[in-house]
Amino acid sequence: MLGEAIAAHRADQLDVAEVLYRKVLQRQAGQPDALHFLGVLCHQRNRSEEGIRLIRMALRAVPLHADAHNNLGNIHKECDQLTEAEACYRSALVCQAQHHDALSNLALVLDVQGREDEALEAYARLLAQAPQLGRAHYLMGMFRCRHVHDTGDVEQAVECFRNAVLHDDADVRAREELGVALYMLGRSEEAVAVYREWLVREPDNPVPRHLFAACGGEAPPVQADEAYVRNVFDSFAASFDEQLLKNLDYRAPQILVAALVAKLGAPQAMLDVLDAGCGTGLCGPLIRPHARRLVGVDLSGGMLAQAGLRGGYDELVEAELAAWLRAGSSAWDIVLSADTLIYFGELVPVLSATHAALRPGGWLAFTLEALVGESDRVELAASGRYRHSRACIERALEAAGFRESVIVGESLRKELGTQVAGWVVLARKSGV
Ligand SMILES: C[S@@+](CC[C@H](N)C(=O)[O-])C[C@H]1O[C@@H](n2cnc3c(N)ncnc32)[C@H](O)[C@@H]1O
Repeated sequence: MLGEAIAAHRADQLDVAEVLYRKVLQRQAGQPDALHFLGVLCHQRNRSEEGIRLIRMALRAVPLHADAHNNLGNIHKECDQLTEAEACYRSALVCQAQHHDALSNLALVLDVQGREDEALEAYARLLAQAPQLGRAHYLMGMFRCRHVHDTGDVEQAVECFRNAVLHDDADVRAREELGVALYMLGRSEEAVAVYREWLVREPDNPVPRHLFAACGGEAPPVQADEAYVRNVFDSFAASFDEQLLKNLDYRAPQILVAALVAKLGAPQAMLDVLDAGCGTGLCGPLIRPHARRLVGVDLSGGMLAQAGLRGGYDELVEAELAAWLRAGSSAWDIVLSADTLIYFGELVPVLSATHAALRPGGWLAFTLEALVGESDRVELAASGRYRHSRACIERALEAAGFRESVIVGESLRKELGTQVAGWVVLARKSGV
């Protein structure tokens, strides 16, 4: 029965698995594997405290169970309890010094706690233990990219990503990061070669296709392909580590909502709000006090699933933003879009659709990445995101029908150790 429970769990049939684990525990109270896996399952179902309690019970019966310590660490990590997580990973390593997952998780929580030297030491230990493990090279590369002190760090990252691909040629993340890092070093021909080779392996994969264009391999599309966005964000949503770390300095939701609410006055829960490209729902709790109804729309089912777990939305819709707005289902007081229009090169269609969907007097608030200079320009950067100049945004807003707007320069995230310049844009539809 335990085997059946685990199989159902692996197949994501959580209801079936939970019933079976509980039956095992009825027959054999305290069965440690059932307690351990049921604990993991409870966490997956947003009952993390129960999950922690169950795994602790399992560990009382089998104190040297490295996987159980590691999974307990993962639950604490995902609940942002980093000290507890660190202790669990250390316990796992006491049980099994060569537990690669526990060691990479330990390195990660040290890094998130700002303990860069200790994190580096842990990643180096992992590489020494498992030099053939592509993921170990990839993680070291990501660490180097997060802590860029000089170009030498990016060069080292390039070597790590090359090794990651060498040991695991199916590692698409490593290929992607390799291309971006090469481009950042000004080695754009090598970056183009990475994507070209990847396209030979996987001609239908939208990720190398988009990044190939972003590095100048071919003409960029007017908007990131839907398949590219889905692919990137579905895998991003599933990867807590990268999300946590890539977003370490990600402040777009906070800055955008602060700029918007300064125009709204005290929250009265009276407004119909659309979170356009809601992702994992970081904006939801910030704007919720103003919302009578809060709807999130996003292309990525994976991101929406995370937003669902976070809660606070009245409805979450999986759709392409501009098409969904054009379908004209609703009238909004606010359309909020943090770091989503960076996947649109041509802004006029999506801004026009938003203008039509807003009530008179309604606000549109969004962020973009900034392209410096006076002229009206947009470019697809090597990161795969578009950058717009101020003049380009002003023209697009005007063409879409917005007569009143404010554009403020702000840094919204870090990339390879440097701040990325961005815009915070507020625009209002005329008439009240
Ligand atoms: C960088 S994330 C930002 C998510 C969220 N707004 C935040 O600030 O945390 C960008 C999101 O935009 C979504 N997205 C990009 N292009 C889209 C489109 N054309 N239609 C709907 N969603 C889109 C992606 O799936 C992703 O979840």
